[in-house]
Amino acid sequence: MGGAFIENCGLSGLNTWGCGGSCLWLARPESVSEAVLPIKKARDEGVGLYILGGGSNVLVQDGFIRAGIILTRSMDALKVTETKGGVRIEAAAGVPVKKLLALSLEEGVTGLEFLAGIPGTFGGALFGNAGAAGASFAPLVEWADTLSHDGEPRRWASGELVWAYRACPWREAPLLITKASIALRRCAREKIIGNIRRFSSLKRGQPIGARTAGCVFKNPDGASAGRLLDGCGCKKLSVGGARVSPSHANFVENTGGARAEDIYALTEMCRKRVYEEYGVTLEYEIKF
Ligand code: EPU
Repeated sequence: MGGAFIENCGLSGLNTWGCGGSCLWLARPESVSEAVLPIKKARDEGVGLYILGGGSNVLVQDGFIRAGIILTRSMDALKVTETKGGVRIEAAAGVPVKKLLALSLEEGVTGLEFLAGIPGTFGGALFGNAGAAGASFAPLVEWADTLSHDGEPRRWASGELVWAYRACPWREAPLLITKASIALRRCAREKIIGNIRRFSSLKRGQPIGARTAGCVFKNPDGASAGRLLDGCGCKKLSVGGARVSPSHANFVENTGGARAEDIYALTEMCRKRVYEEYGVTLEYEIKF
């Protein structure tokens, strides 16, 4: 039963940067009906509410956060059905995307190879429209279920969903994506493995084994944030225990004991440099 609330819950173990303070309470719903409870509780108490999935693309602030958090990881229901040309996967928000990739290989269907090397949960990946080399969940989603700020459920048909680069169709957090259905086509296993290798090779040059949250900034139109950051010397920058990765300038590593304020000060320093050098304002990909 995931309906219980954990009061004053520490958050550093729940995000890949390993930083941040504690929240008023944390809920770990296992189902949509359980997820309605914390939404209503936050509304009744008049406090903020954040959604946390794998914690791999988020900067959690230091100190005490007077807000509730819904951790989606226990919402992990998964259903696979055969379709005419392949399979349909209905997955709840907390299913790890690694599991979806493994499942697609097992089933012999194509479309998810872009997930190679991407961490996190399905809900988080949908919310950030995670992707690689132009590929993402966007063209695969048949429908998605959400809960509103009032805990009202709604199903969105694919035609209602307008995706953009690293942005989902919903702008207003903490709208909770609870579940979605994706359609995948049958494909020769060797081809799927080849695609996985190709996507994995795109990650060469990204830091391995370091505490990061993936790319910090979105790529500006027609340019690479990593190249711009590198070009103005950001790889030499650090604040406290946070440093710009020596292997890829769009990653910030927690080398030990970094506070969220160190990471933020560093990313802002980098952003300022890029603006001063190139007149480009970088937009954050990570969520706050
Ligand atoms: N580059 C540099 N210096 C650096 C980093 C990159 O010169 O420090 C150059 C590279 O040599 C390359 C170009 O910049 O010529 C682009 O770099 P890369 O191939 O690493 O791709 P990217 O645009 O930085 C994007 C995604 C990654 C994704 C990779 C591979 C964004 C913001 N980043 O990175 O996604 O893994 O392509 O598909 O869209 C993420 O979103 O968290 C993420 C890691």
